[in-house]
Amino acid sequence: MPAAKRTRLAPSRRSPRSRVKTTRLRVDLGDRSYPIVIGHDTLDDAGPAIAKATGAKRVALITVRPVGRRYAARLTSSLRAAGVAVTKIEVPDGDATKNLAQLGKLYDAFLEAGLDRSSAVVALGGGVVGDLAGFAAASYLRGIPFVQVPTTVLAMVDASIGGKTAVNLKQGKNLVGAFHQPRLVWIDTALLESLPARERAAGMAEVVKAGAIWDARLFKRLERDIEAALALDPKVLIPILKRACAIKAEVVSEDEREAGVRTYLNFGHTLGHAIEKHLRYRKMLHGEAVAIGMVFAARRSEELGFAPEGTRARIEALLERAGLPTQLPSFPRRAYLSGLEVDKKKTDRRIRFVVLRRIGQADTVPLTPVEVYPAGR
Ligand SMILES: NC(=O)c1ccc[n+]([C@@H]2O[C@H](COP(=O)([O-])OP(=O)(O)OC[C@H]3O[C@@H](n4cnc5c(N)ncnc54)[C@H](O)[C@@H]3O)[C@@H](O)[C@H]2O)c1
Ligand SMILES: [Zn+2]
Repeated sequence: MPAAKRTRLAPSRRSPRSRVKTTRLRVDLGDRSYPIVIGHDTLDDAGPAIAKATGAKRVALITVRPVGRRYAARLTSSLRAAGVAVTKIEVPDGDATKNLAQLGKLYDAFLEAGLDRSSAVVALGGGVVGDLAGFAAASYLRGIPFVQVPTTVLAMVDASIGGKTAVNLKQGKNLVGAFHQPRLVWIDTALLESLPARERAAGMAEVVKAGAIWDARLFKRLERDIEAALALDPKVLIPILKRACAIKAEVVSEDEREAGVRTYLNFGHTLGHAIEKHLRYRKMLHGEAVAIGMVFAARRSEELGFAPEGTRARIEALLERAGLPTQLPSFPRRAYLSGLEVDKKKTDRRIRFVVLRRIGQADTVPLTPVEVYPAGR
């Protein structure tokens, strides 16, 4: 970006908080390892990093309107200043945009823009953009480099890490996809300032999950600082996001294709999915359903004798402070049970239900839907 323009932007965009140090971590996957760079107000520096990570001279920058209208110009300038040609592609907002027709439109746009095997795809947006753009990158010309610039809390700590990409079919969510690791994940927490508070909190549910299943210290830190994290104080938020990213990265590195510990990431999701499904993915955000699911799973962990008493109370109190729902909606019992049926893994007749041994340590137990959700709830 030209110096003059940068200076002009200084007063409004560069808050005093911007002097927070940028930090990085590495997702360890052999020759597909990649860095996650986390900082505050760093979008103007993303271009050179993307150029270096991908070697691309041309990129398709995929975004949605609420994000693109705020941030695409800055990212584009930064890329162009690094010698990268940019074609911006805006897709409609919302999960429904993750579909085969939209994917087809992206391939058309890639061809028209002249993207070849040495080009790259950059996703600027939440998990929806990341999943769609990621699958387009995974499949176009049998796979081209891909970079994530996540703009929601959920995308930062969850969707952008792990290499899962997908689109939905009318029969269900994420039914067609591929594993395609990004070359770089660029996290700028200043981009969260425009994210609605409800979305922020919902993303934070996944951070709480990371602490609950893997890291008691992270959980304690959240108990100390959840309000400051949600207020986006970078000194508080960056270390928390870093730890949450590291946990997802650790879990994924240990178990890239989801056979063992990656299942722990489903903590709270078994019931959460049943709730989302019953509501037809409306009214409640994913993180909100997961919050309810985590409280439920923690309660079951206590009842089944895995976790000490008080585990559920701590999780519930923390989620409530984040403004997340924690109480089971009063759906008919059969709604929960039929939702749980769907969640059963194909390899097993039972659900691998994720329980807590204690805060910071998860385990799985094979249960039937009725055992997960016994009568009398
Ligand atoms: N690949 C994975 O491992 C993985 C993991 C979890 C979820 N996902 C997928 O992620 C998707 C959900 O992602 P999400 O929760 O980020 O939702 P999203 O991408 O739909 O974003 C939520 C909303 O916030 C808006 N938005 C995003 N960033 C913004 C910003 N900085 N300022 C203002 N508005 C902003 C979006 O336009 C959208 O309206 C689902 O499709 C889910 O399947 C994938
Ligand atoms: Zn989730």
